[in-house]
Order: sequence, then structure tokens, then C-alpha cells
Amino acid sequence: MQTHDLIFANRPKLVIPKMLFHCSDIAFSPYGNYWRQLRKTCMVELLSAKRVKTFAAPEKEEVSKLGGDISKMNNSPVNLSEKLFLLTFSVILARHASMGKGTDTASATTTWAMAELMKHPEMMGKAQAEVRRVLKGRATIEEGDMSEFHYMKLVIKETLRLHPPVPLLLPRVCTKSCQVNGYDIPVGSRVLINAWAIARDPKNWEDPESFKPERFDNSSVDYIGGSFEYVPFGAGRRICPGITFGSVEMEMILSHLLYHFDWKLPNGMGPDDVDMSECTGVTVGRKSPLYLIATPYMPI
Ligand code: HEM
Repeated sequence: MQTHDLIFANRPKLVIPKMLFHCSDIAFSPYGNYWRQLRKTCMVELLSAKRVKTFAAPEKEEVSKLGGDISKMNNSPVNLSEKLFLLTFSVILARHASMGKGTDTASATTTWAMAELMKHPEMMGKAQAEVRRVLKGRATIEEGDMSEFHYMKLVIKETLRLHPPVPLLLPRVCTKSCQVNGYDIPVGSRVLINAWAIARDPKNWEDPESFKPERFDNSSVDYIGGSFEYVPFGAGRRICPGITFGSVEMEMILSHLLYHFDWKLPNGMGPDDVDMSECTGVTVGRKSPLYLIATPYMPI
């Protein structure tokens, strides 16, 4: 994705995208002028930092609708997996027709983040204390508050390390024979990059299986494509164009959940009982839905 980026910038023609839309969307269209044009338009019109700002209002409305729904649950367990999926689905698909890719990734990550915080109550406490300190009892969360949620961003980063929602990225295909690490790679080879394994490799990470958001504190390792030990959004020319949109969306939703509610596990479950099994699929979410009990938090 760096030295040989151009050679591996193509996607194989997979059966399902071919049947559904003739591989004409950004994610599956072959590398070339059509893809370049599509991606440029998307970046400028939909996903640039400037555009993401203008989406803040309708998005906030959807998030607070979710808050209203959760409040009505009156101490019965909320299926957070389902609620977050429906939320990201409506946020992205009204505004971004044909951008289905971005819907389940952001909701899967936010749900994993909540599951990890339920497993680590001291981290939940720290993240909630931060959000509540920044908001100082205000009723709504503003776009500008995001820059203050330092610890919460570390939580999101660590969640993306342990639970990258697209663990094998999207497949690439080799367009010119080359050598990688001494191996000959022939033209047409299909390449899967195991971002999940890379992010748990003990050669790169200390105590890799543990959830420790603090590891990213004062670290230059980031998911924007320059740190090859951590590539939840991919890297190179085919890197996810939804990084900014997806990050803002996850920050908005998580800060809302942490600010407005206190959370408990149902049925007398303790932190060690939270099931962290993964389902299979292009996007990897939780095998079992996350059920939690929410108590509305009233700022004094
Ligand atoms: C947590 C959130 C997200 C994660 C982890 C994620 C991850 C990924 C990954 C791993 C790829 C493949 C990159 C590669 O091959 O190197 C990708 C591609 C893509 N993503 Fe995302 N994504 C997220 C959110 C979004 C959002 C919100 C959108 C749009 C609204 C989006 C749109 C796309 C598109 C269009 C591609 C195809 C890019 C191309 O082939 O040129 N993603 N994403």
C-alpha cells in the first residue's frame, strides 16, 4: 500500500458487486479515470471536512431521536446493536445514496466501543467524566466539542485496533508482476490484507490482546494511512474516503450515549460476562446483539 500502491490499487471483479451494480460504485470499480472521477466528486461533494460540517445539523437530529427512543425504554434492556445500525443507516443513506459501505462499519465500531467500555468500567467512568466535564450540563453536544473529547477518541482508536469492522480491508488485485518481501507476485493475484492480524501482532504492539486506549496517548500512530501497523481504514490510493465522516459520526454517537445515559448490563451480568464473539462477513460486528440498560443522566 506504499511501495507498490499503484500496482495493487485495482479491485478484483467480485460476483456480487458485478451482479448488483456492474462494479460501478467507488469501492469496486476498477482503478482508472472513472474511479478517479467518482472518488473526487465524492470527496468534494460529500465527504470533505467542510461538507461533513454541514451535515452536522441533520445528523444531530437523528442522534437525539435515538436518545429519545432510549429514554422511553424505562429500564428495560435496549438492543444497542440494532439501534446504532438503524441510526447510521438513516444518517448515511438519506444523504449518501449508494454509500451503503459506510453504514454498518460505523455502527459496528460504536457498538464494540460500548461493549469494551462495559467490560472496563473504570474506562467507562473516565470517558463519561470527560464528556460531562466538557459539556458542563449543557443540553446538546456541538460539533466544536469534539476536539475536547481526547480520551473518548483514544477509546475509538483502540476499538478500531481490536475490532476493525473491515478486518480484511477490501480485496485488491495485482496489475503488474512484482516482488514483495522476496515473494514473486504474478499479475492477477488477489490480495487480502489482514488488518485485524496486523493490529494484534506482538511485533508491533505491547500486550496486543488487551483493550488499552492509553496506548494511543502521545503516540503518532494514526489511522489515516501512514502507520502500517494500524490500517483499519486501509491505506494508499484506495484508502477509505469516509474517514472524516465516519470518525465524526462515531464521535457524535458515542459522546451522546456517554453524556445522556448511565449504562448497566442486564440480568445480573458482570463485566466479564460480555460476549465479544465476532460474526463473519465483509463487515465484522458482534455475533450477539449488545443489550444494555440505560438510565437517563440529569446534569445538575
Ligand atoms: C468506522 C468507519 C469505517 C471504516 C473502519 C471503514 C473502512 C474501510 C476500508 C478498510 C476500506 C477499504 C480500503 C482499502 O482497500 O485499502 C474502505 C473503503 C471505502 N469506504 Fe470506508 N470505512 C468506514 C466508514 C465509511 C464511511 C462513513 C463511508 C462513506 C460515507 C465509507 C465509504 C467507503 C468507500 C466509498 C470505500 C471504497 C474506496 C475505494 O475503493 O476507492 N466508509 N472503508
